[in-house]
Amino acid sequence: MNNRTKYIILFFTIVWANSAFAQKDYSADFKKVKLVFNIDNNGTPGYQVFYGSNNIIKTSALGFKLVDNKALDKDFVITSVDNSSFDETWKPVLGEVSKIRNQYKQMIVHLKQNTTGYLLDIVFRVFEDGVGFRYEFPKQNDLKYFIVADELTQFNLSGDHKAFWIPGDYDSNEYEYTESKISEVNNKAIFESSTDICVRTVRDFTSVQTPLMLKTGDGLYINIHEAALINYPAMQLHVDNNSYQLSASLVPDAVGNKAYLKTPFHTPWRTIIVSDKAADILASKMILNLNEPSVIKNTSWIKPMKFVGVWWEMQTGKGSWSYANNADSTNAKGQLLPSGKHSANTANVKRYIDFAAANNIQGVLVEGWNTGWEDWFGTWKENVFDFVTPYPDFNVRELQKYAAKKGVQMIMHNETGSSATSYDREMDTAFKFMKRFGYNSVKTGYVGKIVPRGEFHDGQWMINHYLRTAKKAAEYQVMIDIHEAVRPTGLNRMYPNWVASEAGRGNEYFAFSHGNPVNHETILPFTRFMGGPMDYTPGIFKLSNYSKDPTRKLRSTLCKQLALYVTLYSPLQMAADLPENYAAYKDAFKFISDVPADWDDTKIIGAEPGDYIAIARKGKGTNNWFIGAITGENSRDINVDLSFLDKNKKYAAVIYADAPGTDWEHNQEGYEIKKMNLTSTSLLKLHLGKGGGAAVSIIQL
Ligand code: NOJ
Ligand code: CA
Repeated sequence: MNNRTKYIILFFTIVWANSAFAQKDYSADFKKVKLVFNIDNNGTPGYQVFYGSNNIIKTSALGFKLVDNKALDKDFVITSVDNSSFDETWKPVLGEVSKIRNQYKQMIVHLKQNTTGYLLDIVFRVFEDGVGFRYEFPKQNDLKYFIVADELTQFNLSGDHKAFWIPGDYDSNEYEYTESKISEVNNKAIFESSTDICVRTVRDFTSVQTPLMLKTGDGLYINIHEAALINYPAMQLHVDNNSYQLSASLVPDAVGNKAYLKTPFHTPWRTIIVSDKAADILASKMILNLNEPSVIKNTSWIKPMKFVGVWWEMQTGKGSWSYANNADSTNAKGQLLPSGKHSANTANVKRYIDFAAANNIQGVLVEGWNTGWEDWFGTWKENVFDFVTPYPDFNVRELQKYAAKKGVQMIMHNETGSSATSYDREMDTAFKFMKRFGYNSVKTGYVGKIVPRGEFHDGQWMINHYLRTAKKAAEYQVMIDIHEAVRPTGLNRMYPNWVASEAGRGNEYFAFSHGNPVNHETILPFTRFMGGPMDYTPGIFKLSNYSKDPTRKLRSTLCKQLALYVTLYSPLQMAADLPENYAAYKDAFKFISDVPADWDDTKIIGAEPGDYIAIARKGKGTNNWFIGAITGENSRDINVDLSFLDKNKKYAAVIYADAPGTDWEHNQEGYEIKKMNLTSTSLLKLHLGKGGGAAVSIIQL
């Protein structure tokens, strides 16, 4: 054989070797959305997503690295592909709509890694409004227990899109959103300048958290998140500023590993929601649909709830959580000496119960009722709180009787100070205490570093902990609202008693920091709320001079605070201000009394992330509609098409709107209330001042 022949043979051998894995494309599509799967020349699995003719996710790799230098990243062959379709309609226990259609095409790609024999399935579901996919590790002899070092999922964007993002912090999601090009994502300055209360940990200055909201140059809206996060760390996204490639960055554990798994196992769903209309992103039910049905069979005890609480007075410094000034403030017997500022005292709580009973508010939350608050913040110790020992001025039994007489539900508060292992040990005792004293819901919290484990708030161990608490709450028929938790992923379908989480930057930041940007609430529904309800704590009426620091001021008008009850969906909604501040605006408070927290139907009137949101919702079991409209830095006029009202019915409307000249900087508490009768053909015009809003109740006559 001469050299020329040798080279020709070698050349063809290399070409053959490289194409050994390349196989044909497999695809699934639903209306405009198309998913294409293939394996490249190295045997690396990859996918693309199209919206019409737009290739919104270009070829993106899939796979894993394991800790023992094994990798599930190449040498795969397809052993078979299963296609199917699904269509069902289900009813959420609490929700924005009473029925949800779950319709998709499914494609399962069964893969085998040639070099190791490992089996891996990738399940794709293609919906009208996007794509969800997850990895499934079948039960197999050669892969039983394994540790994930990295998930290699990519999302290759087609351009330098506009992004609404918060930094990829492992411990906190209480950030303001930055609106920038993907090429400009860099959170170093944000992280270094942040002075807020929670522990913050960022390792990668170009990583962001999901839900990530994107807008392309040609007007497509894309939302990337995950669904059904169970027994796995949260996925953040590393951003390559140059190639616009996003790649999964899992939150590690205390020693840097990502997930401890055992086959059979499946990951959470990676979700890509897409539309040419911003309103469709808000209306999407894809994340809920990718979650499993409720595991709680009898859900009759799960109820929507508006609540007030001795909370804002503590946040703003008028009162305190603690009973004494500090832990050393004791008498000769070692008993704590009262500071005189303790908000959770029996008489004060009765005042809130009276207010709730008189104003169609179902619950009263009391924080600072139990011992430990003198010595909790920043100490990061175990067993600071035992969740069952009240301060001497808080009479649990008396308040139980008083609330029951008035038809009001008491809401428990369990701040753990992030001592999650203590809470694991104490949880049963805490829930028994709740049942004994008539509490049917609890707000939990995780301020600070996770002690003693050194885990992160969004790592696998804490993800399992949050779910343990939700399951334990369900066992006791208690609803749960978790603060400082990982951002939600639609698990409220599977565990409908997990009614809300905080997991974002709420109104409270106006109490103890410079607050939130004026457009914050126009971004939240496109980001934080994509995974589920948030305990945002709206309804502040005294918008300045509420704190000792005179510069504190909400970037809101009073009417915007009303509108938030509609634009921010949560079956658990606080009326966060003090009774005395509501007493000054009784006619405006009527909207909060009337507005439901659970809905039969929802219409997105119009929306643009960062600019404005207008939504109409129909109260559960009624023919009454409520509209909320809010705007960011620009004033705005919104014409509402009322064709969603019943054609042959008449309605009495009350319109709460910013008064002329009112905006978040000027006369922010100014409003006008107008009453009129409406039908489905009436035209409703709403004027919103800068940082303002409007709220409307439409009651069938
Ligand atoms: C932070 C929570 O977000 C807030 O609502 C609560 O009052 C404090 N922690 C104390 O638990
Ligand atoms: Ca918080």
